[in-house]
Amino acid sequence: MSSQIATTAVRGRFLDIQHTVAQAHEIDDQVRYVEDGLIIMQDGKIQWFGSWDEGQKHLAENIQVAHYPEQLIVPGLIDTHIHFPQTEMVGAYGEQLLEWLNTYTFPTEIQFADTAYSEKIAEFFVQELLKNGTTTALVFCTVHPESVDALFTAASRRNMRLIAGKILMDRHAPEALTDTAESAYTDSKALIEKWHGQGRNLYAITPRFAPTSTNEQLEKAGQLKAEYPDVYVHTHLSENKNEIAWVKELFPERKGYLDVYHHYGLTGAKSVFAHCVHLEEQEWDCMQQTNSAIAFCPTSNLFLGSGLFPLKKAWDKQVKVGLGTDIGAGTSFNQLQTLNEAYKVQQLQGEKLSAFEALYHATLGGAKALSLDDRLGNFNIGKEADFVVLDLNATALQQLRQSRAKNIEDAFFALTMLGDDRNIAVTYVYGEAVYVKARCTRSDD
Ligand code: GUN
Ligand code: ZN
Repeated sequence: MSSQIATTAVRGRFLDIQHTVAQAHEIDDQVRYVEDGLIIMQDGKIQWFGSWDEGQKHLAENIQVAHYPEQLIVPGLIDTHIHFPQTEMVGAYGEQLLEWLNTYTFPTEIQFADTAYSEKIAEFFVQELLKNGTTTALVFCTVHPESVDALFTAASRRNMRLIAGKILMDRHAPEALTDTAESAYTDSKALIEKWHGQGRNLYAITPRFAPTSTNEQLEKAGQLKAEYPDVYVHTHLSENKNEIAWVKELFPERKGYLDVYHHYGLTGAKSVFAHCVHLEEQEWDCMQQTNSAIAFCPTSNLFLGSGLFPLKKAWDKQVKVGLGTDIGAGTSFNQLQTLNEAYKVQQLQGEKLSAFEALYHATLGGAKALSLDDRLGNFNIGKEADFVVLDLNATALQQLRQSRAKNIEDAFFALTMLGDDRNIAVTYVYGEAVYVKARCTRSDD
């Protein structure tokens, strides 16, 4: 981590969404496209942003300006649900959620009892995020506190804003992966004290999902949330029909799946529920009333055959939605690919996902889902300087398609359909270029 970050500047084509919105149709009015723009950064924050013509006057003489004349610069991509220990098991064949967990996931996660192994995969994971233009993520670790240390250490090295936590899981899993209600509480508490607010790191209390926690453990999780109201809650909800039926069997005294979490004080503005594919009406109401957020994970929902997330319903109900890759049930670290699948999930429901709505979910909307829209998500002055330089023409097919693009909306749409990590030219975190793709064209003024 750099202790002193100098003033730097970047010139290029910028695209972002200026303000959060309550409805999808309001997004178009908030689109900001600056064809020749300038961003000036000081100590990791955006000090000035606007047109190059105007901005030149604000540049001190000795500042180096990195110029990306051909590329498109967007805010850092935000992944609101991902599992770092599942990096190596992406694309595990043939099962739906509950069988997939037992067959592939639990054996993989057992390895993270080994600190050296955790550190190795954490490094790979963080590098893979940056290679895909993802600058902030809400991350599941494993039950082992060492896995949390490994991840936050790797993120801190790059000065990334990451939210993560240790899994709480005291039943229905191999013994090597279970904690207890009491150890979940004491281990999580120690990790909160150690990491929450340390640099850019933030902590999330992380019960895996209702079936793998006893009532006692969920009560302890709620106690922790009451003691540390500023930390996040991160879990899974209503992903798969067999899972939902199982929760109803395990918690017959509750009104439904979400009510299990709500009963223990685990809903709220800093609670993020992954999936929510099959919510019932009263659960939508509870999500809305508690200002809880959803991580929409299209590649995962398709890969595990979980179902189609009703994005339109979330807008209607005014429930916050971010985009999640859900690696390793999801099949790509890349948010362009995730948007590609999100578009198709909407098509299958007779709905549209516009290019600008896609950009919103991957940036400012994701920041809002994480209650970080005061710090992340666009180029507003004072925000943290996380952004991505996109190469729109990384392949011959992309070049041909982009040469026919009607406007910036069409160009960005085509990028989400054809793009992947080859399109990520440079990733900036807290004002510094932390990933540069080989052979990127960049000229310094
Ligand atoms: N539900 C409980 N655990 C998991 C997990 O690891 N991945 C997904 N997709 N769903 C879950
Ligand atoms: Zn998940």
